[in-house]
Amino acid sequence: MRAPTITIDGPGGTGKGTLALRMTRRTGWHLLDSGALYRVVAYQARRLGIALDAAVELATIAAALPLEFGGAEDRVQVWLEGQDLSDEIRREAIGDAASKVGALPAVRAALLARQREFLRPPGLVADGRDMGTVVFPAAELKIYLTASPEVRAERRYKQLKQKGIDVNLARLSEDISTRDRRDEQRDVSPLQPASDAIILDTTALDIATVEESVKALAQARGLV
Ligand code: DC
Repeated sequence: MRAPTITIDGPGGTGKGTLALRMTRRTGWHLLDSGALYRVVAYQARRLGIALDAAVELATIAAALPLEFGGAEDRVQVWLEGQDLSDEIRREAIGDAASKVGALPAVRAALLARQREFLRPPGLVADGRDMGTVVFPAAELKIYLTASPEVRAERRYKQLKQKGIDVNLARLSEDISTRDRRDEQRDVSPLQPASDAIILDTTALDIATVEESVKALAQARGLV
C-alpha cells in the first residue's frame, strides 16, 4: 500500500517545522523533520572533532547514526544513543554546521534511504529543503513556504529566545542569509521549489491561516 505524502520545503524561519507538526497532528501521519538528521550529523562531527568538509567520515556517520525520533506535543524529540539532543541540536551553531554538512553529496546520499524509511502508512508529512524535489518526488502535495528575510529573522529570534537561547537579532539575520545562500547555491539538491510545488508566502500570515490553506489543499486532493 502506498502511503500519501505531504512535503513542506523552504528556507528557515518560514514556519515549516510548526506547520509540519500541526499537519501531523491533524492527519495522524508520521513526521520527518529532515533538518534534524543534518543537525545530528553536524552535532556528531563537532563532538568527535571531525572537519565539516570531511565527506567520507561524515557520510559514514550519517549512514550509521543510531537515532531515535519521538513526537512531543509541540516539538520533535531526538535521541542519540540514549541522550536527548532535542534542544542541543536547535542551536544556531549546529544549524550553520548542518548547512555545511548538507552541502556534501556523500552525506546527502547517505541520508536519502534513511529519510525514505519514514514513509509508512497511514502517511507522511516531511519538512526540509529537498523533500519535494529529491527525497519524495512523487508526493501528493508539495508546499514551498517563503517569507521576507526580516520576518524570518524575527521568528527565529523569538523561537530561540523562548528556548532560553541568547541571540543577537542583527547577527542572526546575517547568519540566516549566509545559510540561505549556501543552501540555495550548493551543487546537489539546492534549496528550490519543485516544479509542481504550491508556493505560499507566509510573511503576513499567522501559522493558523497557513495551516488552514494547506488543509484545504490536502482536502481538495482527497488526502484528508
Ligand atoms: O530546517 P533546519 O533549519 O533544521 O535545517 C538545518 C540545515 O540542514 C539547513 O540549513 C540545511 C540542512 N538541510 C538540508 O540540507 N536538507 C534538508 N532536507 C534539511 C536540512
